[in-house]
Parts: sequence; structure tokens; C-alpha cells
Amino acid sequence: MARSAHYWTADKLDFLESYIPAFVHATKKASKRYYVDGFAGPGSNLIDGKERDGSPLIALNASEACTHYFLVERKRDLYKQLSSRINEHIRVKLVNLKRGNFNELVDDIFQILTKRHERLVELAPLLPWPDNVWMGISVENQKYVHRVDYLRQVPAKVRFLSCEPLLGPLELNLTDIHWVITGGESGPKHRPVKEEWVRSIRDQCQKAEVSFFHKQWGGTRPKSNGRMLDGRTWDDFPAIQTRVV
Ligand SMILES: C[S@@+](CC[C@H](N)C(=O)[O-])C[C@H]1O[C@@H](n2cnc3c(N)ncnc32)[C@H](O)[C@@H]1O
Repeated sequence: MARSAHYWTADKLDFLESYIPAFVHATKKASKRYYVDGFAGPGSNLIDGKERDGSPLIALNASEACTHYFLVERKRDLYKQLSSRINEHIRVKLVNLKRGNFNELVDDIFQILTKRHERLVELAPLLPWPDNVWMGISVENQKYVHRVDYLRQVPAKVRFLSCEPLLGPLELNLTDIHWVITGGESGPKHRPVKEEWVRSIRDQCQKAEVSFFHKQWGGTRPKSNGRMLDGRTWDDFPAIQTRVV
């Protein structure tokens, strides 16, 4: 059931409804947009006797607004209400809903991924590298394996390889690398990933004692073909004492 809200909630929601399309227009060339709502609420409000969507629902319903949603609500009952209201969206959008204190969760992990290995090495000495910043590089096929040598020079607590979309077999030097993620390509023209490529990467990780995560096999949609390899999922994270957002 929706909670009664004050007039200022209506003002805030009006603002959000006009802000989101303006923001999307201003960033129309962006391939990714993140929506972060640390005080997400139950997903609906009662204003002047009428039910009105709360901020997370406004953002999720704004067509093409964002590619990733990170929502946090502290109270269990409100979190549950929000969870049931956004379930239908979770199937089609990347929504990460957490119950907890946003002020604590916001200090968690940032995973940064780049293909620009030379620029990364140029900038690395100028940047702070707190433990919660994990730095990754894309390695889609053997042509890009040299990027790993650049990543090794970065003083991040966790250095990871994103082999996604995986487009060919890889022979990797995993010295000083902590985590490898594999995944297939998605979309109507996806290039298929071969099981033996992923298996070989997993075996290389096991030999080098590096954590391995197989995200999905890809297909027309990211979840078309599931994520099992050899009868199980592979969900390892680097073994450090931090929580992942
Ligand atoms: C006024 S409501 C906002 C609801 C929503 N943003 C909207 O506009 O529809 C604020 C919500 O933030 C939650 N909250 C307050 N402090 C929080 C914290 N530190 N971490 C996570 N949630 C918090 C409250 O439980 C409440 O549901």
C-alpha cells in the first residue's frame, strides 16, 4: 500500500519527471547511463489521496533512460514493497536493488573497465587507488592480450580482465591479475562464443589461482543461453575483505 507523502514529495517527483528526459537528451551519445537512488522508498506514494509512482519507478519507466539502476532502501518492509513493484523491470533492465544503509554501501566497490590501456598507464600515477577501486581491461581475443601487460602496471588492489564478448581463444599470462570474467556476445547479430574458449580460460585461472566468473553465454538476449559451464555456474570473486555493489 502506498505511503502518504507531503507536497514537497510531489514537487520532487515533478522535477525528476522533467529532469530525466533533459538529462537523456543532453547525454544522447552515451552508451551507458547509471541511475543511483540511495533513498529509494517503497516505489509509490499517496499524494492528495492519489497514488503516484516513487522516484525509482519514474526512472525505470522513463523510456531508454538508463542502462544500469542501483537502488537502496534501508527499511525491510519498504524494500520488499519496492522489490515487488520493480520485478517486471528487472527482467529487461540491469537493476541492482539492495537493502541497507546507502551511506555505507556507497563506500563499496567501484569496478572500472577500459579498453584504453595506454591512457590508463599514463593516468595511473596521477590517480588515487583506494582499495575499493577495481581496475579492469577488456580482452576480447588474442589480438588484445598485450593490454594485460599495461594493466599489470596499475597499482589497483584488484586488477581484472573482462573477456566479454569473448571472440576467440586466449592464452593469458595471469601474473598479478586477480580476477577474470568471461561472457558471450548478445544481440541479433551476436558472434557465438565457443565453450572450449571459456573452459580453457577457466583452466588457466585455476592453474594460476585466479578467481574466475563466467557471466553468461550470450545469444539474442544476454540471458538466452544461461551461464552454466560443465554443469555448474562459476561465480568466484577476488578474495578480499570488501562488499561488492
Ligand atoms: C522520502 S523517502 C523517498 C522515497 C523515494 N526517493 C521517492 O521519492 O519516491 C526516503 C526513503 O529513504 C529511506 N532511507 C533513509 N535513510 C536511508 C539510508 N541511510 N539508506 C537507505 N535508505 C534510507 C527511508 O526509509 C525512506 O524510505
